[in-house]
Amino acid sequence: MNSQVDIGLAGLGVMGENLALNLQKNGWSIALFNRHEEKVQEFLKQHNDPSFTPCTTPEEFCKKLKTPRKILLTVKSGPAVDEMIHLFIPHLEKGDVIIDGGNSDYRHTTRRCHFLEEHGIHYVGLGISGGMEGAQNGASLMAGCTLESWELVKDILFSIAAKKENGEICCMRAGTDGAGHFLKMVHNGIEYAEMQLIAETYALLKHLLRWTPPQLQALYKKWNQTELNSYLLEITADIFSKTEPDGSFTIDKILDAAKQKGTGQWSVQSALEIGTPVPSLAQAVFARQLSSMKEERQRASEILDEVPVSSGNSYHNSFADSIRMAYHASRISVYAQSFQMLKMGAKFYHWDEMQMEDIASIWQAGCIIRSEMLHDIRTAYKNDPALPNLLLSEHFHHTITEYQRDWRITAATGTLQGIPLPGITAALHYYDMIRSTDLPANLIQAQRDYFGYHGFERNDHPRGELFHLNP
Ligand code: 6PG
Repeated sequence: MNSQVDIGLAGLGVMGENLALNLQKNGWSIALFNRHEEKVQEFLKQHNDPSFTPCTTPEEFCKKLKTPRKILLTVKSGPAVDEMIHLFIPHLEKGDVIIDGGNSDYRHTTRRCHFLEEHGIHYVGLGISGGMEGAQNGASLMAGCTLESWELVKDILFSIAAKKENGEICCMRAGTDGAGHFLKMVHNGIEYAEMQLIAETYALLKHLLRWTPPQLQALYKKWNQTELNSYLLEITADIFSKTEPDGSFTIDKILDAAKQKGTGQWSVQSALEIGTPVPSLAQAVFARQLSSMKEERQRASEILDEVPVSSGNSYHNSFADSIRMAYHASRISVYAQSFQMLKMGAKFYHWDEMQMEDIASIWQAGCIIRSEMLHDIRTAYKNDPALPNLLLSEHFHHTITEYQRDWRITAATGTLQGIPLPGITAALHYYDMIRSTDLPANLIQAQRDYFGYHGFERNDHPRGELFHLNP
């Protein structure tokens, strides 16, 4: 059998199909394998091209590949990844590479890396962002692997990654083992927080200003032409233009129960483990969970009244500008929290390659959170790679100072009017806590000591010395 094919792709779901087309467009030959063989045939019916070689068994698939073999897995994260790995192992040799292109838990990726290392097989945990469009036309790619593995796969990865107008490629090696999937997980945590913030601006505009979908579309479009420019804002504007056959707006027909596949939740779990606070990401996950409790919310709404604390409030359209500023300032806080998490994660797992400037750079195109703000984040870390917190960069410090008043007014207005704003308020609370030299944690320490004799430090003694209320 001829071993002529450049790369094998296993798993022809939506991402797999689009990545196969991307690889083909970039001149690679691809062997295709799917557990349910019909999928390969269906794909070939639509995309009949000599670059694609259909395979029916793992053995045939591995035999068709040039050595060292490179296999890209695009299967559902979880047990399916381990199953695929075990299907291929008997047909692989030392030096071959498996790339996991799914949204895998980075801790599983680290485990798999070590397991395959024992077989002499390279393993690359590859975070891919950009949805179907990115998979086909250029995604943001975040790899975790050894330098040796990286050398084997980087040409292929660079070819299918998103390219910026200046030619920069959105692909990086973030560190060893789980680093790439860790990075993708935090990307998704930010994605959740960004989406929650946009949703809260929508709630304010809809309930306080009574804006209609066409007005919302126009506003988000306008915002998107400013420093707020982002892919998520762009699609939001478009969503408000979608109508039903009867002319009504589709957004009003969509059930308000948000789903999630797990990456947002993992981000928060991981942040807790590392010990890095990401309240905005946590609130975004909790907000999705609360939204999905639709029946419970329905029942509670019939019993739990809103007690108005201010009456006769009428909001002018100009309030939309305060909402804009609150949104912008909240996003800065989200990125400050998330980049702190990345820095802490890099330190915790010894991923020295994970440089903040590079991360901001590869997120500038291809991925779901691409936005103008990443340009400013990149500049901030370029100017000072050791920046202790993004909020301290001159640019963001200025912006928050300018927008802070409206941020507070917006958060307070939502609270007074009973409009839940967990994202905006969590972002504001983070800002207020990180800049505070006088938190009430002294009382918590005293309470801990009172009931558990845990000891507290004193501000008039060196750190580390412990005292008690009742010695
Ligand atoms: C991306 C997306 C992608 C996927 C999310 C959706 O970067 O391309 O993040 O990975 O759409 O996993 O996640 P939820 O289903 O959890 O919202």
